[in-house]
Order: sequence, then C-alpha cells, then structure tokens
Amino acid sequence: MSKSKINKTVMIKVDLIVGARPNFVKIAPIIHAIEKANIPEKLIKYRLIHTGQHYDTNMSDTFFQQLEITKPDFNLNIGSGTQAEQTAGIMIGYEKLLLNEKSDLCLVVGDVTSTMACAIAARKLLVPVAHVEGGIRSGDETMPEEINRIVTDSISNYFFTTSAVANENLIKSGVHNERIFFVGNTMIDTLLKNIPRFTKPEIWDSLNLNEKEYIVLTLHRPANVDQEVQLKELINEIIVNSKNLPIIFPVHPRTSKIISSLSISHPELHLIEPMGYLQFNYLVARCKVVITDSGGITEETTVMGVPCMTLRNNTERPETVTVGTNELLGINPKNIKPSMERLFQGNWKTGKIPELWDGKTGERIVEQLILLRKIAKL
Ligand code: UD1
Repeated sequence: MSKSKINKTVMIKVDLIVGARPNFVKIAPIIHAIEKANIPEKLIKYRLIHTGQHYDTNMSDTFFQQLEITKPDFNLNIGSGTQAEQTAGIMIGYEKLLLNEKSDLCLVVGDVTSTMACAIAARKLLVPVAHVEGGIRSGDETMPEEINRIVTDSISNYFFTTSAVANENLIKSGVHNERIFFVGNTMIDTLLKNIPRFTKPEIWDSLNLNEKEYIVLTLHRPANVDQEVQLKELINEIIVNSKNLPIIFPVHPRTSKIISSLSISHPELHLIEPMGYLQFNYLVARCKVVITDSGGITEETTVMGVPCMTLRNNTERPETVTVGTNELLGINPKNIKPSMERLFQGNWKTGKIPELWDGKTGERIVEQLILLRKIAKL
C-alpha cells in the first residue's frame, strides 16, 4: 500500500463548531494544536464552521484576528433571534453542510446555543459528537446555557472535561468512564499563551488608570440585564461601594439595548464598547476586582489571581470558588456592599490554579482524537 493511501485511511475529518464570543477563545488552541500535529503528515482535516450567532466585528472578527484563528470555512449567518429561531436555523444550516459532506466527528465547545444545535444535527445524521467542556452544571435550568449543557451532554459520544466535578457529573448521569477525558481548560490555554501579548487599551491613558485602582464590570445574563430595575440597582450599588474608583464597563450588545434607556450616569462609570480579547485581559490582569455574571471570566481571573465577584446565585464552574479567587454574591444588589468592604480591607482570598489548567489542553485533546482514530472509535 502506498504511503499516501495509508495517510488517507487514518486521517480524521473533524468539524469544529463556533458561534459566540467565548467559543472563539476555546477553539483557538485546538486549531493550533491540530496544525502542529499535522506536521509532517496531515492527521486531522478540519472544517471551521461559524454559525454566525455573534456577528458584530467586536464580538467576532476581532477575536479571529487577535487569537490568530483561520477564517471559517463556512458561516451559517444565523444572526439574532429567539432561542428556538437560532437553534432551528443553525440545525438546518449545519444539516445541509453535513448532507453535502459528512465528517467523522463534530467537535463542539462550551454551552451556547450553537453548541447544542450542531450536536443535535450531527447525531441525527449519525456523526459522533465530542463536547469540549462537557459535564459542567449550574443546576439552574432557568438559564439557556444549562439546557444547552444537558442536551449536548445527553447525546455526546466523547467528553473533554475541565474538572473532576465535571467528570463526576457525567458519571452520575450514566456516562461510561472510558468516554470521558479529563484534559483541562482550553480557555486557559488561550490565556496563558496570550499574557505576553496583552495590549494596553486606549482607555488606560485617556483615564490615567493605575494598577489596582479601577474596577472591571461585565453584565449580560438575562436575570441581571433584562429588567431595568435590577440592572439599575446593581450598577448603583457598585458605584456607591467603589470608593470612587473608575468602573470600566464594556457593554455587551444584549445589555446595551436596555442600558441606553436607564439614564444612568456617574463620573466614574465608563460605559464602553465590547473590547478585544487582548485589551480586555490587559485591564483584567491589573484591576482591583472584576464584577461579572460571566462564567469564562471567573476562570481567567482565577488563573491570573485577580479578585472576582460573580453576580449569580450559582456557577457551573465551582472550582473558581473552591480553588480560585471567585465568590458568588447572588443577584441581590444589597450583597455587593459587604463584599466590597471586605475587598477594600484587603481580605480577599488569593486562590490557586485548578488541576490541568496549564496551557496544554488543546494538545491533549488532539492527541486523544488521533488515538481514538487509531483504535477505530472514530
Ligand atoms: C451568548 C451565550 C452566552 C455567552 C454569551 C457571550 C447562549 C444561549 N448564550 O449570550 O452563554 O456567555 O453569548 O457573549 O448561546 N447581538 C448583537 N451582536 C452580536 C451578537 C449578539 O447585537 O454580535 C445581540 C443579539 O441581537 C441579541 C443579544 O445580543 O439581542 C443576545 O445575543 P445572543 O447570542 O442571543 O446571546 P448572548 O446574550 O450574547
């Protein structure tokens, strides 16, 4: 048999699915690890499929440029819509691609609507699914992400996990141990790789910011931003308890729709456009505290040792609290004051880095994919 014939038979065809901002951060190290593994011979052929769930330049294109992600091979251009509209549109678009050309594996990351929709479309066409960041659970089924996690995990064939808790959740739900691969956190691969590239944003000089003398705020969860009163009270409590430190608030598109009607203003509250990855993390790395309702940011602050207050009642990433620098404050605005007092007294925990969050997760995932192919599981 010729060498090229042998190569052809072992090469895996993988679809890499991305749709929303956090997906881009999670997929970058997997793509880079594939490209490394493909030297000298091509072991993995991938199609990068962007569903178009996030489409603004600063929610999508900027991330591709900054994280050096190749241009997507396909864009489903799904755009905005209700949960069902987005899910259905993505399923229809991805199904067409698969009907045209099937892959050996569909690899989905995270917990956004694109993750679930593509997993369903793939499995219905008998394409196995691997879920990167499988097994995490908040227990809060009012969040669309929790439904996405439960559905995606219930039909995935392989799970690349970030923590021992995720492994336990999967085992408890009946997943066999041999389908779970505890590999660590690709979001942290991206973070560790890019720390030397973090870029000072313009706002640093225009506001004369100093290390540990400003606050970073992000809010986009429906529970916090879809009702005017809640959003206004949260922001007011943060302002009142910030000892006049500047509050830098890059506003997510979901939040900006409502915030413009709030007529909230204060000299130290700085509402700005969503930032690029390198600029945002430059700010996070140097701030006094991050106040957020994001999940991914709590992992990044844990690794950078930055105090983090999460305005949620629960988290699917408990190690950021038990091991890292994160604390759950809940969504009651009155909980902000005592935490800020503790922070300013210098009594915030320093935290440690969770197991396997070491920058090598993408490589472990790719090694595992190649191994699965060798033993004919893919
Ligand atoms: C989504 C994910 C969430 C993730 C977040 C990161 C789901 C269910 N949620 O939430 O897990 O933390 O992304 O950002 O998948 N919009 C724009 N421009 C864009 C993208 C969105 O204006 O580029 C608007 C949409 O029109 C919509 C709103 O923002 O009104 C929400 O977008 P959507 O992607 O549905 O959910 P996110 O809240 O961004």
